[in-house]
Amino acid sequence: MSKTIRPLILSLLATALFTAPARAEETPDQRAAKTVQAMTADERRQLTHGIMAVPIFGAPLPADAVLGAGFVPGVKRLGVPNLTETDASLGVAYLMGARHDGATALPSGMAQGASFDPEMMRAAGAVIGAEAKAKGFNVMLAGGVNLIREPRGGRTFEYLSEDPLLSGRLGGASIAGIQSNHIVSTMKHYALNGQETARKNADVSISDAAARESDLLAFEIAIEDGQPGSVMCAYNLVNTVHACGSPYLLDKALKKDWSYKGFVMSDWGAVSGVGDAMAGLDQQSGQQLDRKVYFDKPLAEAAAKDAKVAARVDDMARRIVSALYAVGADKDPAVKAPIDLAKNAAVAERAALEGIVLLRNTGVLPLSGAAKSIAVIGGYADVGVLSGAGSSQVQGEGGPSASVPHGGEGLFAGVLTENYHRSSPLKAIRARAHGTKVIYRDGRYVSQAVEAAKSADVAIVFATQWQSEGLDQPDLGLPNGQDALIAAVAAANPHTIVVLETGGPVLTPWLDKTAAVLEAWYPGARGGEAIARILFGEVSPSGRLPVTFPADVAQLPRPKVDGMATTEPDFTGVAGGAVVPVNYDIEGSDVGYRWFARTGARPAFPFGFGLSYTSFSHGPLSLAKTKGGLIATTHVRNTGAKAGADVVQLYLTDRAGKPTRRLAGFQRVELQPGEDKAVEIRIEPRILADWAGDGWAITPGAYRFAIGTDAETLGESATLALPARRLKP
Ligand code: BGC
Repeated sequence: MSKTIRPLILSLLATALFTAPARAEETPDQRAAKTVQAMTADERRQLTHGIMAVPIFGAPLPADAVLGAGFVPGVKRLGVPNLTETDASLGVAYLMGARHDGATALPSGMAQGASFDPEMMRAAGAVIGAEAKAKGFNVMLAGGVNLIREPRGGRTFEYLSEDPLLSGRLGGASIAGIQSNHIVSTMKHYALNGQETARKNADVSISDAAARESDLLAFEIAIEDGQPGSVMCAYNLVNTVHACGSPYLLDKALKKDWSYKGFVMSDWGAVSGVGDAMAGLDQQSGQQLDRKVYFDKPLAEAAAKDAKVAARVDDMARRIVSALYAVGADKDPAVKAPIDLAKNAAVAERAALEGIVLLRNTGVLPLSGAAKSIAVIGGYADVGVLSGAGSSQVQGEGGPSASVPHGGEGLFAGVLTENYHRSSPLKAIRARAHGTKVIYRDGRYVSQAVEAAKSADVAIVFATQWQSEGLDQPDLGLPNGQDALIAAVAAANPHTIVVLETGGPVLTPWLDKTAAVLEAWYPGARGGEAIARILFGEVSPSGRLPVTFPADVAQLPRPKVDGMATTEPDFTGVAGGAVVPVNYDIEGSDVGYRWFARTGARPAFPFGFGLSYTSFSHGPLSLAKTKGGLIATTHVRNTGAKAGADVVQLYLTDRAGKPTRRLAGFQRVELQPGEDKAVEIRIEPRILADWAGDGWAITPGAYRFAIGTDAETLGESATLALPARRLKP
């Protein structure tokens, strides 16, 4: 070939190569379908069930399992990784004492919910996801977005809020953050998993419309925002059918209506039979906790007899592989790596600072040098901050600083322990109380606490309400006589500050006697520091209640927790025992503040409430229809003397002539003193709509919106006329 022709050919070839239309990349689904096609029937089925990866069931763990909540062997020859699974939304869990390697504990779900900050949620999710991966896990059993229908629920601390938009947006952001590490996150517990009493036998009744407009909407939004690779179905029954065997929940709503591409895994011990596969369940998890390993031999037998079952097994395997491919878990495997816990703790501290809610302040806060002596009382404040118990329990490096066992038998005994993270509020207060005398009394003896309070300029009482998976609270009072302790201290010292470390809402009968109340929830790895920083005004409190604080349990749709009087708390429980009916049609989709708006009852503190050390004003509200949807605009000004963050809350107050109260959008805004920022809020259209059987329907008419500083205190408002509109499910 001549010297001149060769370059010509090469250049033509290069042009052809680079200008030829790029072959469309295969979707994870298409790739997964090919991989599954290459599998044997046994390999496919093997992906559909897994063990709880703890050595308490007799059999040794498989060599490549990681000590954690779950393990499902992959298919090595085809490059499908093992599924190595760990709990949960608050960090890598300690597995009832089986793991001792320490992890970053984020503040509880309630604290995260109080941030109203998807950006922080994403950052915090990214941190716990990275820790999970560095410990060898590629599936995180996180993403708890159940609505708080039962404030006495034992898992209130794990969940985010009572509002579908808030829970969906924050849950989705957290899931996206976790998955940014190329690992799968679940979203759970699907669905309507509102109480722990009779946790495997509570039968929730609710209409389709009420479910779609409330709890299911939270899941739907979290899926859109977070794209979780997996959904974990719940223990409870919904309208007489087990959630993990519910064609309505799994097949219809999730897979058909929302076009969900990932896989459904069962909660541990939530499978009722091989038939659950045909309802849409893709994987049996923690199989030792079920009566049988249904998705092994029984599934193989069913598939051999029925082509429909065989096709379903293919689909189950494809969904699982597709979820791994979608996050890149095959290309970027989870390998053990060092973790910078100190760096990650800063993210936990940020989350705590954003989530602590100032409920009352007569002027005592922020603490100034004026107080010459402070009495710190109770709540184990000398050693740490409280955490919630159960599968989500995280332990920091070195384990808890205090552990109080609460009895129980077997697995439940391991769970029933009140653990404190090593972040002492007392130490953090002392570090900031230059020249101020700080004494500590543990609060066990009221007389001693009162004496200390009398001798000090300021008294700070730390009050705790411990919650655990498996165990609801009978009421909303503080346990162990703490209400009496607070009342006595407040009577002895007019400058009494109460710091609550509670799983969820509690009653505050002593409120008027106190000078200030801070709701710190379970504030996580750096909770003590975060509390002290807020007490001393290094940071203005900016959390807003993600849940209503009732004035009395009589105001709730269910004044008593259903089944509590007739069943014993049991962590593992037995599915198929006596069914406990729970009627969610009482409130329907009017959960939390919507129920209070409907009944006219006055809560102690409404949803969205939270004070600051500075003040804010909002400009006029305007509404516009744009190509991208409905947009609300206003501006917010910091009118005080301190930096702080406001949460601009947009409520729908009238729907085509019907008074209502629904959070339609929100935006957290950081502002320096005097600073003014424009705020643009995208209105979620499904919040305006009714579920109409096969989709959403917006009734034509005038829609009124208002900016609220909470769900009950409304300011600037505006109205927009909307035509009739149908939205896809
Ligand atoms: C909990 C789940 C958890 C699972 C695995 C169950 O008891 O309900 O939230 O992910 O255990 O630990």
